[in-house]
Amino acid sequence: MKPVSEDRRVTAQAPQQTGSAPAGIRTLPPDLPAFFTREQHPIHLVGVAGSGMSGIAALLIELGHTVSGSDKVSTMETDRLQRLGLRFREQHRPEDADSADLIVFSSAIKIDNPILVSARDSGKAIVRRAEALAAIMRSKRGIVIAGMHGKTTTSAMTAHVLREGGLHPSHYVGAEIPILGTNAHWDPRGAYFVAEGDESDGTVALFHPEHTLILNIEEEHLDFYADLDAIEKVFAQLITQTAGKVFYNIDDKNAARLCRSLTCAIAYGFDEAADYCAVDIRLKDFASTFRVNHRGQPLGEAVLNVPGQHNVHNALGVIALASELGIPFEKIAKSLAKFEHARRRFEIKYDSPRFLLVDDYGHHPTEIRATLRTARSVGRKRVLTLFQPHRYSRTKALRKEFGCAFDDADRVVVTDVYGSSEAPIPGVTGQIIVDEIVAHGHHSVSYEPRLDWVHRAVGNMLESGDLVLSLGAGNIHEQLSAIAADLVIAEKLKEIVGENGEVRLYEPLSKHTTLRVGGPAQFWVEPRNEKTFAALIRFCRDESLPLFVIGRGSNLLVRDGGVRGVVVHPCGGDFDKIEVKGAEITAGAGAKLKEVAYAGKAAGIGGLEWLEGIPGTVGGGLRMNAGAMGAQTFENVTRVRYLDANGGVHTKTRDELEVYYRNFPLLEKNFAVSAVFRGQPAPLEEIVRKLEASQEKRRTSQPAAKSAGCIFKNPDSCPAGKLVDELGLKNSSVGKARVSKVHGNFIVNDGGATAAEVLELIEKIKATARAKRGIELETEVQIVGEPG
Ligand code: EPU
Repeated sequence: MKPVSEDRRVTAQAPQQTGSAPAGIRTLPPDLPAFFTREQHPIHLVGVAGSGMSGIAALLIELGHTVSGSDKVSTMETDRLQRLGLRFREQHRPEDADSADLIVFSSAIKIDNPILVSARDSGKAIVRRAEALAAIMRSKRGIVIAGMHGKTTTSAMTAHVLREGGLHPSHYVGAEIPILGTNAHWDPRGAYFVAEGDESDGTVALFHPEHTLILNIEEEHLDFYADLDAIEKVFAQLITQTAGKVFYNIDDKNAARLCRSLTCAIAYGFDEAADYCAVDIRLKDFASTFRVNHRGQPLGEAVLNVPGQHNVHNALGVIALASELGIPFEKIAKSLAKFEHARRRFEIKYDSPRFLLVDDYGHHPTEIRATLRTARSVGRKRVLTLFQPHRYSRTKALRKEFGCAFDDADRVVVTDVYGSSEAPIPGVTGQIIVDEIVAHGHHSVSYEPRLDWVHRAVGNMLESGDLVLSLGAGNIHEQLSAIAADLVIAEKLKEIVGENGEVRLYEPLSKHTTLRVGGPAQFWVEPRNEKTFAALIRFCRDESLPLFVIGRGSNLLVRDGGVRGVVVHPCGGDFDKIEVKGAEITAGAGAKLKEVAYAGKAAGIGGLEWLEGIPGTVGGGLRMNAGAMGAQTFENVTRVRYLDANGGVHTKTRDELEVYYRNFPLLEKNFAVSAVFRGQPAPLEEIVRKLEASQEKRRTSQPAAKSAGCIFKNPDSCPAGKLVDELGLKNSSVGKARVSKVHGNFIVNDGGATAAEVLELIEKIKATARAKRGIELETEVQIVGEPG
C-alpha cells in the first residue's frame, strides 16, 4: 500500500528521479544521515497526516528531534503522534515552521505551499520525504522491499520475522501494522532497517540498501513513467546501489529478467530453479501451508495466516531474506504463522462458499483503492462495498480522490459522514462522495443516509459469489456484522429450499404488495413445493423465528419497519400448478385466482368467473375468504390442503371447515398448500359474458392506481365505499396516500407513499365515520410489521 497523501499528479511537478528538491531552494546539511540520526534538531513536516509522512514523524520523534507538522486535515495518526510529542497545525502557516532547521515535505504538497515558499525564500533546508527516509536508513544496514504489489505486507512480515529473530530491526512501512505496533519505529539496538520502497514516483532509486527484495515489476504509475522500460531503469538503479544481496521473485517475469544474471541474486518462488522454492502449496480458506526447499534441500513447512497465493510468494521472499541473515527456519516459520492482519484490516466476518464478508477500516482513497484491489483479487464474483466517510474535513478535502477510489467495486452504498470529533460542515454529506463517484463514471452507486439501513440496502443486493466489504474508520462495521448474523440463518434457509428455491435478505415488501408500501422482510423465502414449505415451518418453530406467509400482497398493508423473521412466499414449482379434472380445478397456493377463472373458461366450467376480479393468489383468497360480485371463495371451494404448525399435511373438505365473511380462521396458524374449486359445466358464451361483466364492473367502479383493494369490511348498515363517499372523504389525502376518487373504499398510492401515511388516512376515515355516523369501521386489509 502506498503512503497516503502521495498524489502522483502533484508529484509530477516535483523534480523526478534525481532525488533533489526544487532547484535553488537547498542548503542541505552536509551529512544528512548524521543530521537525522546523530544530532537533534527542530524539524517541520509539511503534509504530516499522510501515512508515509506520519512514519517519518514517528521516526524523528523517536530519534529525539523536536518535530512539528502541518496538514489540511487531521487524522487518527496525527492524533496519535500529538500524544507522542508532535506539534500539529491543521493548516500550512509559515510561522509554524520558522524555528525548524529543516523542512521535510510530502510529494503531495504543491510547490507553492506557503511553508515551502517561505522556506525557499529564507534559504532553509528542504528535503522530500523519500530523501529523509533514505538518509535515516543510511545509518543502518538497510533492507528495501520494492515492487508494485505487496510491499506493505512483505515489509511488515520482514520486520516482524527479524524482530522475532532477535535482530531488533527498525522499520518503516506504508500503513499501520498492529503486529508491529506502529508504521515506523527506530530501534537503537539493532543493525537493520526494513523499509518499504515507493516506486510510484521514482524515489525508490534514492536508497542505498544492503539488501533489496523485489516482489514484482509491471506497468504501473504510467502517469509518471513513460513505459515499462522507464520503470525497470529505476529498479536497475536500486539494484546497482544494493551492496549485498538482491532477492527476487522468480515467477515474476520482469523481476526475473532484471535479476536473473546478477551474481548477488537470490531467487525465490514456485519455480524449481529458485534458490528458495515453495512446494506442495495448499490454500485453504484464509490460511496457506507450504513446504520450503533450499536448493533442493527441505527446510520445513510454513503456515501462513494471511490470504492468497500472492502472500505465499511474499512470505517466501521473507523466508529467503531471513534465512540469509542467519535466522533458523523453525524460528522464521514460527513467526510467520503468528503474522496476521489486524482487526478491521481485511478482517473476515463471515466466510462460506457463497458469501465472504470482510471489514476494513480503510478511510483514505489510497487505502480504499488498495483494499478493493485485494478484495477483487480474492476471486469472488462481485465486490459490494459499504462505505462510511470519516470526518467532514477529509470528506471535503479529498472528495475528488474518493470519487476515483471505487473502480474495483461492482456496487457501492455510501452512508453519511462519521464526524469523529468534528462538527458538521454545511453541505458535506455522503452524497458529495456519491456525486463524485458517479461523475467518475461508476454506474452502481447509491446513497443511504440512514446508517442503520445500510445493511438492508447491501444485504438485499446479495447474490451467491459476492464479497461484501465494509470500509471506514467509524462504525460501519456494525452494519456488516448485522448482515453476517442474518446470513447464518439465510444460508440454512437456502439449504432447506434447495437450488430451485429462493432466499433473500431484507427484501422490500413494497415490491410484493399491490399498494407498493412496506419495509423489508428480514428473510424472504420462496419454497417451490410442499415438502420444503413443511421443512421451513419446522425450522422456524425450532429456531423460534416468526413465520409469515404472503401471496400477491393484494390485501396487505406492511408497516415501514418491515416484517421480522421469515416471510414465506410459496410460488413457482408445485405452488403455481392448476389441474382440471371434470368440474373440479385443483390449484396451488401460489396460483392466481384469475388463472383459476380462466382455467375454468378453457375447460367449460362456469361459476368461477367472479374470481377474475380478485387480484390475489389462491392462498390469499382462502385466508381472507375473498369475495367479489356478491360471491365469496368458499362458495366454490370443496377441499383445502394445508400444513399445520409442525409441518404436518392435512386435507379437509368444505363441510369440515369453519368459514366467515372475509375470514377463514384455520389459516391463522396453518398454511394453505392447495385448494380444489368446483364449478359447473356451462356454455362458453355464458362464461365469457360473466367474465366480461366482472371486468366491466372493476373497470367502471374501481381505481386502476396502486391499492390494496377494499380497505374496510362492509359494515351491516352500508357498504364502506358508499359511507366514505357520503362522508365526503373521497380524494382526501395524507402525504402520497389518497382516498380514491373512483371508489371510497380504496386508498391509492400516488407514488412513494409510506405505510405511516396510509395508516394515518385510515385512522382519519375511521374517526370521521365514528364521529359523524356512529359506525365502527373495521379494516379488511391485513396490517402487519413493525413501525418504521
Ligand atoms: N359506492 C358508492 N361510492 C363509492 C363506492 C361504492 O356509492 O365510492 C356504492 C356503489 O355504488 C354500490 C355500493 O356502494 O352501490 C357497493 O359498492 P361495490 O359494488 O363497488 O362493492 P363493494 O362492496 O364496495 C365489494 C368487495 C370488492 C369487490 C366488489 C365487486 C368488499 C369489502 N369489497 O366491494 O372486493 O371487488 O365488491 O364485486 O366486500 C376487496 O375485497 O378488496 C374488494 C375490492
